[in-house]
Amino acid sequence: MDIKTYMKEARAVTDTRLKELLPAETDYPEVIHQAMAYSVFAGGKRFRPMLALAACETVCGDWKPVLDAACAMECIHTYSLIHDDLPGMDDDDYRRGKLTNHKVFGEGMAILAGDALLTYAFEILSGMADDTNSRQIVTIIGEVSRASGTAGMIGGQVVDIISEQTKPTTELLHYIHHHKTGALIVASVRMGAMLGGADETQLAALTEYARQLGLAFQITDDILDVAGDASKIGKPVGSDEKNEKATFPALFGLEQSRVMADEAVQAAVAALEPFGEKADMLVQLAQYLLGRES
Ligand code: IPE
Ligand code: IPE
Ligand code: MG
Ligand code: MG
Ligand code: MG
Repeated sequence: MDIKTYMKEARAVTDTRLKELLPAETDYPEVIHQAMAYSVFAGGKRFRPMLALAACETVCGDWKPVLDAACAMECIHTYSLIHDDLPGMDDDDYRRGKLTNHKVFGEGMAILAGDALLTYAFEILSGMADDTNSRQIVTIIGEVSRASGTAGMIGGQVVDIISEQTKPTTELLHYIHHHKTGALIVASVRMGAMLGGADETQLAALTEYARQLGLAFQITDDILDVAGDASKIGKPVGSDEKNEKATFPALFGLEQSRVMADEAVQAAVAALEPFGEKADMLVQLAQYLLGRES
């Protein structure tokens, strides 16, 4: 299947399921459910759910076993974006082509919408457990918790903040990118692999793929923050410069950053070799990053 079609279909199944899973906007207290839906359905790429679906399919030929978990990851990702945009963090006004959550609902409600999405993700995950899979679901809940916390995304966001206005080392930049962005990407791929029934060798290969992909994803995000088109990325260009962030372009320049993204994508693709053609969509999702405009 052509990658554009695959991405469109994966987005559609994710959106349909997210609509079913999330609380109705008419449920009391309405404003929080509206704030949650506002950001979740603002038009994200759904790259993390897509990866979970494609990893599951690579292993077992079907994406259905991971669909709810993939939606839970999108809730956590969306929460991380709402909080990332807050005045106390990156202080940005646009996200996914719309005003940021706090600009519409106020800071207090944006904080709560983020908290609610994070918590709701774990409600979705625990709701997946039945008589046969509860052990595996507990393992996944553990991994997702770790990937979201101080050993994962939060850890990366913390170091991102404390590294503002400093000249980072290569090692520090890798820490930030692997944690603030890589951790949720690795967790997305691993949940797809695990729910697809991957063996240890397959899981290790897919984990290495995701690790390299997470790095490539954030390097290309840094590049788009310098050289992207705000109307396409749906968020401001120049946010990193404004906040004097530690980024790949700031340390290495645009050209070298592009080379480094390319190397990470190549390493990601190389890790998929044992799967042969079965990993075709994962290969193409990695390659898509190098040309992405949003
Ligand atoms: C943006 O993620 C934040 C990062 C971790 C780089 P995406 O580029 O996946 O944002 P959406 O979900 O498509 O809006
Ligand atoms: C944030 O990185 C990653 C998150 C954990 C949300 P950025 O601050 O670069 O993400 P954008 O560019 O605002 O989407
Ligand atoms: Mg940030
Ligand atoms: Mg930001
Ligand atoms: Mg960015």
